[in-house]
Amino acid sequence: MLRHALEAQGHSVIEARDQSEAVAALRAGRLGVVLSDLRLPEGDGFGVLRAAKELDPNLPVVVMTAFGNIQDAVAAMKEGALDFLAKPVDPDHLLLLVERALAQGRLATENILLKEELASRRGAPRIVGEDPALKQVSVMLHRAAATDVTVLLEGESGTGKELFARALHVLSPRADGPFVAINCAAIPENLLETELFGHEKGAFTGAANRKLGRFEMAHRGTLFLDEIGELPLALQAKILRALEERTFDRVGGTAPIQVDVRVVAATNRKLKAAVAARQFREDLYFRLSVFPITVPPLRERADDIPVLARFFIDRFCRDLNKKAMTLASSAEDALRAYAWPGNVRELQNCIERAVILTDGDTIHARHLALSLRAAPEAAAVPDGSLPGPRLDLQGSLADATRRAIADVERYKIAEALREAGGDKARAAEILQISFKTLLAKLKESGLDS
Ligand SMILES: Nc1ncnc2c1ncn2[C@@H]1O[C@H](COP(=O)(O)OP(=O)(O)OP(=O)(O)O)[C@@H](O)[C@H]1O
Ligand SMILES: [Mg+2]
Repeated sequence: MLRHALEAQGHSVIEARDQSEAVAALRAGRLGVVLSDLRLPEGDGFGVLRAAKELDPNLPVVVMTAFGNIQDAVAAMKEGALDFLAKPVDPDHLLLLVERALAQGRLATENILLKEELASRRGAPRIVGEDPALKQVSVMLHRAAATDVTVLLEGESGTGKELFARALHVLSPRADGPFVAINCAAIPENLLETELFGHEKGAFTGAANRKLGRFEMAHRGTLFLDEIGELPLALQAKILRALEERTFDRVGGTAPIQVDVRVVAATNRKLKAAVAARQFREDLYFRLSVFPITVPPLRERADDIPVLARFFIDRFCRDLNKKAMTLASSAEDALRAYAWPGNVRELQNCIERAVILTDGDTIHARHLALSLRAAPEAAAVPDGSLPGPRLDLQGSLADATRRAIADVERYKIAEALREAGGDKARAAEILQISFKTLLAKLKESGLDS
């Protein structure tokens, strides 16, 4: 009956008999609205609702419930259902609700797009990546952005926590307010309190003027507490109070100060473990982790590696005024095979180097110098290519640099000779130096003996 009523109005309908069929249908296609009975032969409407919200938080879900089961309907709405229909369903009411739900869904999408466009105009940081693991983070970020909830970003070093914190701010209603960052690990413990909360004139020797703390600067905006895991215990209590009561004291101040800030914290270690080790207050941990978002390490979203690599290649070619370059498939394989302990930051550095080292229009595996990065035992050379030069960082900067350049030259020349099958003229061509220069360098590096 519902199908007929809906199809008569030009909607297309996909039917599912129980929760698992519904979930399969949800996964299979792009749906405009979900209409589910709360009672199903197998599973229930709550399961369908949760699955729908997990796939797309903006997908409108309308639940149907037997007359008199209002509590269930209320519970469903608390879990994110848009509305409910009491059975027996009145077709006119049904159509009205479905139209409204569809309009709501469109609005939500439009809203996200508008926000993204606004954000890009504001010069929001660009988050590159298509791996489902990253998309999931993005969905969470959008959801959190709309609220004032405290967000905790957890992830290994270089995964993009700061980038996400900035994106969160720009996507939030506070975007017009300030984004204020403070790195709790980078500031000496004795200065951290005044950095966070400020001080009054004369609060201590040397306090010649009143100083505003980061909490105050972030008023009506977002405060980014980076490396929160490094916060000394004494300050953890003060941060907790600032979060709970939205007030704090300047050092030497006499009256508490009120602020309106959204806090985003980041840490590259598992705060839970720090709590267990009594290095981090449990109450502060609970306060911070209302909305935790874990940024997955790069090796767990391998599909992002080539996408990010190409993004960085384009960027560095532009920045360094070099002509466009492509990534050889051998280079792509090498990038994928590497474990990236330093995550996106390490990939970015690696690509910058490669763009500098590449003279032609193709980046090959040898330009990536990944063997320099691999642990010694992993530096085996499966494809018969040469092991890369070793970095020897002893002595003065000048010494180490000279040695490194000499090593890279020796390595490049040996590789070119190998590639040219020992033909020196051809090797000079590959290296894009003159034959004479090559001979001189061969002599200098002792390679011709
Ligand atoms: N998805 C991404 N798209 C584009 N650039 C990215 C992405 N993720 C990270 N980056 C870049 O990688 C670098 C490292 O990111 P970021 O500083 O945000 O990492 P982090 O998690 O804060 O690291 P740390 O824990 O070491 O402070 C930055 O230059 C950032 O712009
Ligand atoms: Mg960081």
